[in-house]
Amino acid sequence: MSRAADFFNEEDSNHTANPQFDQVLDTRLSRRGLLRGAAGAAGAGVLGASTLSGCATAGGASGTTGPALTSLGFKPVAKSLADKVVVPEGYTAQIIYALGDPLAAGVPAFKNDGTDTAFEQRAGDHHDGMEWFGLDASGKPSNSFNSRGLLAMNHEATTDEKLSSFFIHANGGTASLPRPAAEVDKELAIHGLSVVEVMSNGKQWTTQSGSAFNRRVTSMTPATLHGPARGSEHLVTKFSTDATLCRGTLNNCGTGKTPWGSFVSGEENWYGYFFRDAQDDDRRKKDKQVQALKRYGRKAGEASRHGWESAGAQDQYVRWNNGALAASAKDDYRNEMNTFGYVVEMDPYDKSQPVRKRTGLGRFAHESVAFAKPVAGQPIVAYMGDDARGEYIYKFVSDAKWDPKDASPANRLAAGDKYLDKGTLFAARFKGDGSGEWMELSMNNPVIAGSSYFEFKSNADVAIFTRLAADAVGATKMDRPEWNGVHPRTGEVYFTLTNNSNRSAATADAVNPRAYADMKGSKEQKGNVNGHIVRLADASPAGSSFKWDIYVFGAEAGADKSAVNLSNLTDDNDMSAPDGLVFSPATGVCWIQTDDGAFTDKTNCMMLAAIPGKVGDGGARTVKHGDKQVTTYVGKTPTPATLARFLVGPKGCEITGWCETPDGRAMFINIQHPGESTAMADVNDPAKYQSQWPANAGYGAGKRPRSATIVITKNDGGILGT
Ligand code: FEO
Ligand code: CA
Ligand code: CA
Repeated sequence: MSRAADFFNEEDSNHTANPQFDQVLDTRLSRRGLLRGAAGAAGAGVLGASTLSGCATAGGASGTTGPALTSLGFKPVAKSLADKVVVPEGYTAQIIYALGDPLAAGVPAFKNDGTDTAFEQRAGDHHDGMEWFGLDASGKPSNSFNSRGLLAMNHEATTDEKLSSFFIHANGGTASLPRPAAEVDKELAIHGLSVVEVMSNGKQWTTQSGSAFNRRVTSMTPATLHGPARGSEHLVTKFSTDATLCRGTLNNCGTGKTPWGSFVSGEENWYGYFFRDAQDDDRRKKDKQVQALKRYGRKAGEASRHGWESAGAQDQYVRWNNGALAASAKDDYRNEMNTFGYVVEMDPYDKSQPVRKRTGLGRFAHESVAFAKPVAGQPIVAYMGDDARGEYIYKFVSDAKWDPKDASPANRLAAGDKYLDKGTLFAARFKGDGSGEWMELSMNNPVIAGSSYFEFKSNADVAIFTRLAADAVGATKMDRPEWNGVHPRTGEVYFTLTNNSNRSAATADAVNPRAYADMKGSKEQKGNVNGHIVRLADASPAGSSFKWDIYVFGAEAGADKSAVNLSNLTDDNDMSAPDGLVFSPATGVCWIQTDDGAFTDKTNCMMLAAIPGKVGDGGARTVKHGDKQVTTYVGKTPTPATLARFLVGPKGCEITGWCETPDGRAMFINIQHPGESTAMADVNDPAKYQSQWPANAGYGAGKRPRSATIVITKNDGGILGT
């Protein structure tokens, strides 16, 4: 998320009366079974030097099998405001892939002065979620090879101010409407996905700019629609009158890797890219979509993020105006916005196949997709969050049962058709006693089929208007669900809830219990300022009930321990706005990344390593809001041995994206939007840039800051974090 994207994440379109949680249950009765062996939140982890008991060098042994890791093996790094990447002693970080780097032979080196073109063949902007796809020495897919592979990643957005992506235009571009077509063409191309081959010679990693695997998918690349909404009247556009095709992917945030070996990407703040004029609601008088457009944050008459719709009469610009302007949906782009907001599946090994939009996983501000460990004969289960204030947590349960042969299928996207196109979506309802329920979002649920709130005619409508279906069943409004990850040993799913400026004493509930004031300099910040991480233990992955607690609350170390710093964070692990969250398949370490604006007076954004326990390993806590008391359930208090700061990024960045080689000895992460608070007027004055990274670390031409991928290794060649 970037500075401008912040506006969209602050989207506040959930005005339903849905519960902040179910208040009717008596919290005193049913906690006993959940909190086995816990004595409040005071239990300390075991400090010690041990790392992977007995298998510190056996890469891949501890993630899901072998002895569990009990203690992190690095010295925590201090908070930092320096314009550089800080990693622990004994570790090295190397920059390998930045905005504009060529992805094909013959593409000129990136000059980084705003004159570069051909972004369809260069790294996109705002690197975000990322996954590893191994290659063996002969270039065939490999799940075990450690020195050659593909990085598949999202290019979420761009550093912008007043409409323009100013660092890619020579003088900052045009900050008024209409936007020039030549500028818009570059901006269309820097969004989307990329695949880049990387290789290690044993000492250094490099990207292979001439690799035949390298690929870009932009906001213009043809894609196909799959799942229940394929063919729906609400997906008909001038481009695809039978509603089977669409173009591009946008604002791709978190990622996931499917059990069948493909890449999935969540489309997040897509609604901000569209425009419809102030008369559009009136023109659509009888169209139920007016309600949905508002619920998804696209009010008539509001400006779009970049004004792409203003650049000319050609189709690639007109498509961003989703007003009902012509005789029917076949003649305009009134439904174009409905072709965004999905999980997009790509086979990184096969660029001949278009990406597929999996409508069965619902339409909202998608972040990552975390799959439960597949079990033969059982459904595939995928967990997902919707990142805006007061939005919901979801899971998808496939109709098809897992066949282990599909772990290496002949056609990965055909396997995706099998598991992701038919199934059922659920939204989470949290209860005050530490339990919860998954509410079915389908026409099988009479609450949906007979809804007086919104007219659902089919499961296609549920797939397209998912937020309204979740409203109808009374899902719980959360503090901005970001990434999620499934613990490889316990199977529990962790969701970062990054922050929520809307949370108040009146709406504080058991699962979103904090609302407080925090100072940033002279500025008072309110609500759930620093975010938290909730975890769910499903009774069974495909089941309808779960238990939950809060693994950790973000906070400043010095904050009030009775209301804010409930997890007793210290200088070694205090953090704010958890966002990225991935469990290492090799070690089981949980890597937590921040995208913060609240604690950035004291530290740049960071990544922490964690060894979490499980739901119920802590205890009940009461948070007071004046006369109101909220009981919540907090995990075992972390210590620097079980939660420690591993990395701090340069100025103005967020840390995001995480993947590793199968042996756990090389880790790739993304530094997104360094220097994002630079003013557009200063585009040609490096002295005024908020950041000059990565140029100040010796990478590339020019001094304009660039989003980039870094690789982190241990100097002794060991397993990271242990
Ligand atoms: Fe792209 Fe919700 O962060
Ligand atoms: Ca503060
Ligand atoms: Ca994010």
